[in-house]
Amino acid sequence: MMKLKGVIIQGSSRSDGNTAKIVSFVQEKTGFESIDLKSKNIGAFDYNFENEGDDFLPLMKEIVFNYDTLIFATPVYWYSMSGIMKNFFDRISDCLKTEKELGRMLRGKNMGMVSCGSDSELKKGFEMPFVESANYLGMNYLGNMHTWIENESIPESLEKDLSNFIENQLMISK
Ligand SMILES: Cc1cc2nc3c(=O)[nH]c(=O)nc-3n(C[C@H](O)[C@H](O)[C@H](O)COP(=O)(O)O)c2cc1C
Repeated sequence: MMKLKGVIIQGSSRSDGNTAKIVSFVQEKTGFESIDLKSKNIGAFDYNFENEGDDFLPLMKEIVFNYDTLIFATPVYWYSMSGIMKNFFDRISDCLKTEKELGRMLRGKNMGMVSCGSDSELKKGFEMPFVESANYLGMNYLGNMHTWIENESIPESLEKDLSNFIENQLMISK
């Protein structure tokens, strides 16, 4: 079987925080590479494409040309995905307008999501933008696992659930 090539896209406002701990774990289990959006300069969506020259387009090219599976790893900030991650999603609109070919290349790829909050409960509705964006872009949605950090590390029982999720949902090519 062909080896799945995947990438974990980290959207935290700190590169070495809680979401990064989850990303390291997922990376270890999957062998996927990771991209830290915090280290990139990605501006907000602009109707006049004023941010066209920033890091978004080269990054998007790198992603669509190299990977079949995209795992979004976002902290929970105010019941939603982080602003950094939302900017990334908003900018996909550039691909649907000025870079249509690039946008089309997302079709048939897999999308998964891992959220990281302070609470073990993820509020209803958090996952919807990911599910609907995958639908809109013609991507296969693999599912979400909510995570949190206790005493600087991943709780033991969560580690087990996360391993199962990775094995049974993220490592499957649909
Ligand atoms: C701006 C901000 C908003 C937050 N909002 C929530 C929230 O709505 N629900 C929640 O469970 N945790 C919330 N938290 C806590 C973070 O989700 C939690 O600490 C997370 O593990 C942080 O990951 P990070 O270290 O990658 O930023 C918030 C934290 C910040 C900084």
